[in-house]
Amino acid sequence: MVRFAVLAVTAVAALAVLVLAARWLIGLPPVARFVAEHPGQAPLPPSVPVGIPAWLGWQHFFNAFLMLLIVRTGWQVRTTTRPTASWTRKNTGLLRTKGQPKKISLELWFHLSLDALWVLNGLVFAILLFVTGQWMRIVPTSWEIVPHAASALLQYAALEWPLENGWVSYNALQVLAYFVTVFIAAPLSVLTGVRMSNAWPKGPDGINRLFPIELARRLHFPVMIYFVAFTAVHVFLVFATGALRNLNHMYAPSDDDEWLGFAFFSASLVVMIAAWFLARPLFLRPIAALMGKVGR
Ligand code: HEM
Ligand code: HEM
Repeated sequence: MVRFAVLAVTAVAALAVLVLAARWLIGLPPVARFVAEHPGQAPLPPSVPVGIPAWLGWQHFFNAFLMLLIVRTGWQVRTTTRPTASWTRKNTGLLRTKGQPKKISLELWFHLSLDALWVLNGLVFAILLFVTGQWMRIVPTSWEIVPHAASALLQYAALEWPLENGWVSYNALQVLAYFVTVFIAAPLSVLTGVRMSNAWPKGPDGINRLFPIELARRLHFPVMIYFVAFTAVHVFLVFATGALRNLNHMYAPSDDDEWLGFAFFSASLVVMIAAWFLARPLFLRPIAALMGKVGR
């Protein structure tokens, strides 16, 4: 308890020092000039589309929905010592192999089934991003992004938050965070996850020497920590920088201050909470049984 109190006080003090230092820095004439010249938004290609289309809102929702359960089942795979049940895939049809399929826990079966849907959702998202030109909003297109991101970071730290309109474009720091999440973290979790799974060919040579399973194991969990940390900051900022308007962008989808986005967001939360409570062995076992053999 005392340790926690000391830690909390230290954290608050460190934060206060950071904010004061940033405010002092931003007040210096050369820094103020730099911030004026780089307000935090890198220039965008002229053909960039304006607004967030409905399909993107749906993709974003499916992603959050699946990710909630993926993180939970990943955590269960990591911490469960006695799985509630085992699952073995059917050895028939296209998936037929010479060796016997390996048993896995019901938790890992659910993790992998959610992953399959999540990857499908991600592929549809990526294809639509590139077909519609929407990618230009979350992929850096010039090195100008670097000074703008530095400026935006300084403004956040000084508590003078950049108030851009996310409907038209994101600030440089947002662009970088979304880019890393979609194009680095997500593929990394897929690659390391598939490497650990039984679907990956065994053997000590070739690609397995370059990309050993231990490396995949060491990376897969930190990538989850990244996703959770990103989501915490992301959702905090969505609510702290004009909640109604931001929620309308992603959930309505429109650029006004009405309550529709909030209503859809609330409904999506209800769906996510319901899924959380329904995802228990009682309901999962019959679904798993359709795809393989459920045992003890
Ligand atoms: C359920 C909680 C969430 C809420 C309320 C939320 C809300 C939002 C909002 C309002 C925007 C648009 C921001 C703006 O207009 O300035 C946005 C964009 C985005 N969010 Fe979330 N988000 C959530 C969860 C997540 C999760 C879990 C991820 C990924 C791990 C994520 C990834 C993104 C990305 C990549 C964008 C940019 C999309 C684009 O424009 O192409 N969000 N989110
Ligand atoms: C295509 C995507 C993915 C695949 C194929 C995959 C596959 C796997 C596999 C096979 C394991 C079991 C490892 C073992 O037996 O020790 C595992 C564990 C885990 N997964 Fe995933 N995964 C994917 C995506 C994700 C994502 C997106 C997250 C979180 C955001 C996540 C979080 C975890 C966690 C926390 C564990 C436990 C790791 C540990 O014990 O250290 N996975 N995953």
